[in-house]
Amino acid sequence: MNAKINGFTMAYDLIGQSGHPMVLLHGFGLNRSIWYDMVKKTLIDFPVILPDVRGHGESQAPDGAYPMTLLAEDILRLLDFLTISKAAICGHSMGGYIALAFAENYPERLSGLGLITTRAGSDSATKRAGRYKMVADVELEGAIVLAESLAPKLTKDEDIETEVQRILTHTNPKGIIGSLMGMAERPDRKSLLPRIAVPALVVAGYQDQIVSIEEAQSMADTLPESEILILENSGHMPMLENPDALGEALTRLIFRIEKAEK
Ligand code: MLT
Repeated sequence: MNAKINGFTMAYDLIGQSGHPMVLLHGFGLNRSIWYDMVKKTLIDFPVILPDVRGHGESQAPDGAYPMTLLAEDILRLLDFLTISKAAICGHSMGGYIALAFAENYPERLSGLGLITTRAGSDSATKRAGRYKMVADVELEGAIVLAESLAPKLTKDEDIETEVQRILTHTNPKGIIGSLMGMAERPDRKSLLPRIAVPALVVAGYQDQIVSIEEAQSMADTLPESEILILENSGHMPMLENPDALGEALTRLIFRIEKAEK
């Protein structure tokens, strides 16, 4: 389905019908298809909203930088479009940066938070410089440069690596560039965590080459209402590497929200 919001067309799916709604946000360079198997196999019938973030998948890719606050505003506008007053916002990696920007700017619309293989801190100077180098490389050579360098870091499973590399290769370069610039300039949101007083889930993978267990543990220790799930056999892509365990934890998050709201 499509929604015309915030000056562009956003593609999304709405799966499930009854219960408290949850938004699942994919990470950088990917799209909503990464959630499909997990949602179909493991989630019960609560409404799950799966957007393609601006510049990704079937959503339009406007020019310019995509600050995480703008991507969070897109999600707010999608909730308005769907007449959903409050939702659990769960984000994978860059999706987690968006979820945190949403929590900061629209706390009245947030009922729960999921931080999946992501971090609350900002980029180091080296990481930021690497992003701008990648912007220049993608401008010259297209999405393939990102696909070849990022896919091996996302997972150690060869089939999953092939699939994520395929998705990354097909992502609009304007979406890649806008997101790289937005991620590079995002602020540190660690000091926000103690103020997020809704049920929260933090998910980490022992084999994650991008986010460490220590970073995940420290977010869970700081969030007032958190559960942490550390997956032995997962890298950066638990929705593909360990869908059952992640799906069960997301379902528990919805139960915790429903209990808290009674
Ligand atoms: C992602 O998977 O969204 C990215 O690895 C996040 C990042 O580059 O910081």
